[in-house]
This record gives sequence, C-alpha cells and structure tokens, in this order.
Amino acid sequence: MKQHLWQCAVLLLFLLFAQSEPAVLSASHSVGHRRYGSIFSFGDSFADTGNKPIAFAANSVPVTVMRRPYGDTFFGHPTGRTTDGRLILDFLAENLGLPFVPPSLAHNGSFHRGANFAVAGATTLDADFFHDRNIPGAPSKFPLNTSLNVQLEWFEKLKPSLCGSTQECKEFLGGRSLFFVGEFGVNDYHLSLKKWSVEQVRSLVPLVIETISAAIERLIKHGATSLVVPGVIPSGCSPSILTMFADARPPKYDPKTGCLRAHNELGIHHNTLLQDSLRGLRAKHPGVTIVYADFFSPVMEMIESPHKFGFRQDVLQVCCGGPGRYNYNDSVSCGDPGATACESPSSSLYFDGVHLTEPGYRYVADGWLNSINSAASANRGWCRSEL
Ligand SMILES: *[C@@H]1O[C@H](CO)[C@@H](O)[C@H](O)[C@H]1NC(C)=O
Ligand SMILES: *[C@@H]1O[C@H](CO)[C@@H](O)[C@H](O)[C@H]1NC(C)=O
Ligand SMILES: *[C@@H]1O[C@H](CO)[C@@H](O)[C@H](O)[C@H]1NC(C)=O
Repeated sequence: MKQHLWQCAVLLLFLLFAQSEPAVLSASHSVGHRRYGSIFSFGDSFADTGNKPIAFAANSVPVTVMRRPYGDTFFGHPTGRTTDGRLILDFLAENLGLPFVPPSLAHNGSFHRGANFAVAGATTLDADFFHDRNIPGAPSKFPLNTSLNVQLEWFEKLKPSLCGSTQECKEFLGGRSLFFVGEFGVNDYHLSLKKWSVEQVRSLVPLVIETISAAIERLIKHGATSLVVPGVIPSGCSPSILTMFADARPPKYDPKTGCLRAHNELGIHHNTLLQDSLRGLRAKHPGVTIVYADFFSPVMEMIESPHKFGFRQDVLQVCCGGPGRYNYNDSVSCGDPGATACESPSSSLYFDGVHLTEPGYRYVADGWLNSINSAASANRGWCRSEL
C-alpha cells in the first residue's frame, strides 16, 4: 500500500510536469504523451508496419504491397504497409511521442522502443486449424505460420534482449510498455467464409475469443500492465466481402449503408464476446489496464456520413483495384496493370479490398487515443482517492 502511494505521488508529479511542457501535441493528448517508452504490437495487415514482405517471401508468396501506389501518401515509397500512408498504430505512436513501431522480422536494430510482430494475413487460430479443415486458400499456402500464438513466440524469443531479471522485465514491460493485441479475427472469418456459411462461421467466434484472451493472460504473465485490444471491422461493408457475397436480394443489405447485414452481425457478435471476455480479465487482474478499442463504430460512422469526412458519396468504392461494382476485383490487385488507382486517396475510405486509407485510419486512431487516455485518467482518479 505504501509503495502504491509513492507510485501515485510520483505519477501525479510526472503528469503535472508533462502537462506543463509546451512540447505536448495538444491538450487532449497530453496525458498519453511520454507516458509510455515502448509499444509492442500483435496483429494482421491493419497493424503490420513491414513484416509482410519478409514473411511472404519466406513462403514464396508474391507480395503486392511493395509497389506503388502503396505508401505514396505519407512515406513516399512502399513500406510493406497495406495502405497509402500511415496505419492506426503509426498515428498512435506519433501521438504518444514514440517512433513508428519497427517490424520484428524486417528491422535490424534495437527493439527497446518497441517491436511489431503483426503480419498481414495473420489469423488468431493456428494455421493448422485451417489446413486440417481444407479451407480453400488462394494461394493454398494461406494462412501462413504467423498466428497470434506464433507472434507470441517471437515476442518471447526477443524478450531476453529487452530485459534480464524478473524485476527488470516487470519495470520495462509493465510500467513503460503499451501492448496492442489485435485486431485479430478478420482473417479467421474471411478464410472460413470461403468454405462455410456465415451461420457456421459464427460458431467459431468463442474459440477465437478464447485464444485472444489466453494471449492476453500470457502477456500479463510476462509483466504487461497496459493492453489495448481492438475489436473487428464491419466486414459486411468491406468491398472484397461485398463482391464475394454479392446477392441480388435487397433484404440481405442494410438499406442505409449498402453493407451486408449477416457479415456485420458476425463482427458485432465477435466484439460483444470480446468485450465480455475483457471484463472478466479486468476483474481477474485488477492492477492491469485493458482498453477495448472500437474499430467497428468509427468505420460505420464514416460509411454513414461520408461527406463529413471528405469522402465521396459512393463510399464503398475502393481507391485502388480492378474492374467491378466496387472497383474491387479478386483477380486484379491494386498495382496490377489492369487496376486503377484514384486521383486522391483522401476522398476514399477504402484503399483496397478491406484496408482503409490514411484519413480513415486517422479517424479510428483518434477514437482509440481517447480510450487510452481515458483509461490513464481513470487510473489517476484511483490514485487521488487512495491519496
Ligand atoms: C544489421 O546491421 C549491422 C550493423 O549495422 C550490419 O553489420 C549487418 O550486416 C546488418 N544485417 C542485415 C541482415 O542487414
Ligand atoms: C511455426 O512457427 C513457430 C515459431 O517460429 C515454430 O516454432 C513452428 O515450428 C512453425 N511451424 C511450422 C509448421 O512451420
Ligand atoms: C474482374 O477482372 C477480370 C479480368 O480483368 C474480368 O474478366 C472480370 O469481368 C472482372 N469482374 C468483374 C465483376 O468485373
């Protein structure tokens, strides 16, 4: 208890000091600024800052993101990110005063400010789950051996280079590191939908959530005390899903948005079970902050009011893709000779079949940053009452 008081007092002093610093980015971001010294991230293409080219090449799978217009908007060249510019994780790192999180497979240098284990196409469940059930992949090597558990193994292999003794790891991974677990789930469901109906895929959700929950417990065992766990996107609005499951029957679609109802309901189900599971984990680990990051609602907001965000009215059209109703075509990828890219990605929400453009990610990141900062303020409130 006494130690707690000291920690709170030091934290309060630190926050007072941090908030009086003129260098902070903006008032609403000042709490998060400098609070963390590193970010560790697990996930798929929504978080992958450059592992994809390495992981895909290792499996002799062609990489379509290492060519223009990927990377054109911000980095000026392809980086392995599946978008035109920065990802949600990049905006969060910037706002928290940290460097872009280096991809663990591609970066040759220090990981003391963080490491990103996310790989495009990664599933929650191990690859064998899908291979054993003969899920038709295209190409059939998918999913690659990059599941959540494999990413955790990569983290565990790296850990001894980050901290030594139990106490040192507790301080490094606990006090100063922010962990992102996800988004996970979208690839499990999209792959499964190649074989099973939406109703059948729904029965997979509890197993996916249990796997995410077990990963969180494993990270807490390693010393993590600040975790952010994103939910899934509304897949029923993703142009690739809309193309794959094009249906002439109007009741299949939400009349307001043009999204497929059943696929969005699958995502809502996942997010509901995920939040239930996070509540259980919070109760079990009172000293640990676990933030749910809503990926679903901000995307729906942008689809419902595209003009508010500067997007064209036909918001389900992708910026870069092949011929088709949504400018998406499964056999013509962005960057292929038969594909077309929009003039200005900032007027599109979708960059390619499922991935958002920079302004889309920026808006989602704003919401996550608020959630992360509110959790930090809530902890301060707890400190004050203890004092
Ligand atoms: C990594 O960096 C070191 C020192 O900068 C260099 O000697 C080494 O060749 C690099 N390795 C790779 C695989 O790029
Ligand atoms: C998958 O990757 C993990 C971690 O790198 C490794 O231990 C395992 O042997 C790999 N499995 C296969 C089937 O390659
Ligand atoms: C997708 O592209 C292929 C090859 O260009 C074309 O034959 C096909 O008609 C396109 N599909 C749609 C729905 O336009």
